[in-house]
Amino acid sequence: MTDIDAVLQPCDRVRISVLDENYIDMLMPDTKSVKRMGMSRHFDARSGTPLAENGIALLIEVELRGRVSRILLDAGLTSGVVLHNAALLGIDLAEVDHVVLSHGHPDHFGGIDGVLRAIGHPVPVVVHPEAFDPRYINHPSGDIMRFINLNLTKDSLEAAGGRLVLNRAPLTIAPGVMVSGPIRRTVDFEEDKPRGRVVVRDGEVIPDPIGDYQSLIIHLRGSGLIVLDMCGHAGVINSLLHAREISGVEQIYALMGGFHLGHAGVTQRTVDLTVDRLAEFGMQHISPMHCSGMRTQMAVATSLPDAFVHMTVGSVISYDADALLAATGS
Ligand SMILES: [Fe+2]
Ligand SMILES: [Fe+2]
Repeated sequence: MTDIDAVLQPCDRVRISVLDENYIDMLMPDTKSVKRMGMSRHFDARSGTPLAENGIALLIEVELRGRVSRILLDAGLTSGVVLHNAALLGIDLAEVDHVVLSHGHPDHFGGIDGVLRAIGHPVPVVVHPEAFDPRYINHPSGDIMRFINLNLTKDSLEAAGGRLVLNRAPLTIAPGVMVSGPIRRTVDFEEDKPRGRVVVRDGEVIPDPIGDYQSLIIHLRGSGLIVLDMCGHAGVINSLLHAREISGVEQIYALMGGFHLGHAGVTQRTVDLTVDRLAEFGMQHISPMHCSGMRTQMAVATSLPDAFVHMTVGSVISYDADALLAATGS
């Protein structure tokens, strides 16, 4: 399949800024494609220091023929951290055109009300309708972790300025940008067994498959897809296969997000199988973040050192279609 057959129109430029993430590292230098808030700014009392937490939020700027669309993908665990880091990065959230919530877990939606208020104008919020169904976690250890999404309500989102776009299918929200809809799960080693996770749906209490989970897919002209898989609940390989299928674009250039392999009970075999399959896609950038776990970060860094990019709080990565085409001599 070629780009000409693509369902998803290609864009010219993409910039992704990390507003919220589990990891912070002020010592890493800039690279050709990644700019970071370095040590000098960190120690400068006038600018302040960025913050990390167990959450994730990305600002995505996509340009086609000089027109820029700005999308906020997830809202971290707390709005305080997201707004603080956005200010340090010089990002004006009032310019956001679209908000997307990958799923109804607090480390992704927790900051949403405060962030919508900071955006300050009515803005579409794309979210699968099942994200609002009450979900409970009965933790095997006995730790209390019950009704975990009680702060995500349609009323509160609308009161904060959100205009709900409840999707159960792929949705194109900007030139070159598509929300995946529910992800088909076919890879056997990524089969998810909900342990203690239940959801109340239509009055029934059922095991929670996190069926509201969605990724964001961007098509960069000449290079292929950039897949943002924020918490890996459908399996990261399933996400990549699904992105190819619904976009009509075969080549995947980059993968970023939480691979959900950092939890107790995830075996080394699953990590190894995942990294082996990641290698088959021939991606140029792979960034395991958030819930990927140190073991998976190390496995990707070791097995695919040229592709591994450590994205931390304050990292900003840029992709320019023409520059990449020139670099490959195409
Ligand atoms: Fe999650
Ligand atoms: Fe998560």
